[in-house]
Amino acid sequence: MPTESASTTAEADFSVSNYRVKDTELPAFKDMPFEDIEELHLDHPGASDEEYRKRRDHIASLSKKFRETGVITDVDYTEEEQGIWRHVATRLEELHQKYASPFYLKAKKDLGITTERIPQLSEMNRRLKELTGFRLAPIEGLVATRAFLSWLSWRVMLSTQYIRHHSRPDYTPEPDIVHESIGHIPMFTNPAFADYSQFVGHGARIANDKQLEELGRLYWFTVEFGLVEHEGEIKAYGAGLLSSYGELEHAFSDEVERRPFDLEQVINHDYTYSDMQPVLYVITSYAELKEVTRKYIESFGSK
Ligand SMILES: [Fe+2]
Repeated sequence: MPTESASTTAEADFSVSNYRVKDTELPAFKDMPFEDIEELHLDHPGASDEEYRKRRDHIASLSKKFRETGVITDVDYTEEEQGIWRHVATRLEELHQKYASPFYLKAKKDLGITTERIPQLSEMNRRLKELTGFRLAPIEGLVATRAFLSWLSWRVMLSTQYIRHHSRPDYTPEPDIVHESIGHIPMFTNPAFADYSQFVGHGARIANDKQLEELGRLYWFTVEFGLVEHEGEIKAYGAGLLSSYGELEHAFSDEVERRPFDLEQVINHDYTYSDMQPVLYVITSYAELKEVTRKYIESFGSK
C-alpha cells in the first residue's frame, strides 16, 4: 500500500479508453519519478536484526536494478525464507477456503501460487500479461501515493520481493512478497478489477490533492480491504484482508459493520492505518466497481 505524499504536477490530457498498454507505450522504468522510497522502519520486527537488514537490503537492491535493466531478477530465497512462506501461506489457505472470493481462489491457482514455495515475480508477471495485460515491476520499498497509483494507469503494479521477519510471520508493517503475491497479484487476473485499477491510476495522474486523498480512501476500502457479494454470501477480495489472518477473521466478526459499497461514502471515509477496520464496504460485482469508478474519474476534469 502507498504512503501519504506530496503531490506532483497533474497531467492535463487524459482518457480512460486505452485499456491494454503496449510495451512501446510504457514510460521507461528508469524514469520512475520516486522522490523517496521508504527504508526499514524502527518499529519493524527485523529492525535490530543485522542479518535480516542485510538480506532485506540485498533483495531490495535486486528490485532496484530492475529500473536500469527492465528485467526482473529472480530471488534465490533461503530455506528460512521458504519456511516463513510455507507457515503463513498454509495458515492463510485454510482461511481463504472459508472467506475468500471464488474468483480469488481460482486466480491463485491459475498463477501457480502454492503453499510450497515463494513465487517469483517474473513467473507471475508472464501469466498476468497473458491474462489481462497487467505487469509487475519490482520496487524496494513504499513510495508516495501519487507515484504508486499512477503506475496502475499503465497497468503496472509495483511489488516488493523481500519477506517479513521470522519472529512475526503473522505481521509486517510494510508490504512484502506475502502481501503482494497472496494479497494483491491474483486479483489483477480479473479483467474488470484490472480495468478498475487502471482507472484509479488514471485518476491519480490528474487528481488535485483533495481528489488524491479520496482515491487513497477508495483504494484502501477496495484493493486493500474490499468485500464482495457472491451468491448471497459476503467474501473477501482485498489484499490487506487476504494476506493477514488477523484482519481476515476480524472482517467477518461481529465487531465489523459491513456496509453496501457507496462511492460517496467511501471517498469521504477517514480511516486509521494501524487499527483493525471497524467498517468495511461490500461491492456487488467488480464490473459495478469499475463502472462507478469510471464515471467518478471522468468527473475529475470538471471539478
Ligand atoms: Fe497493499
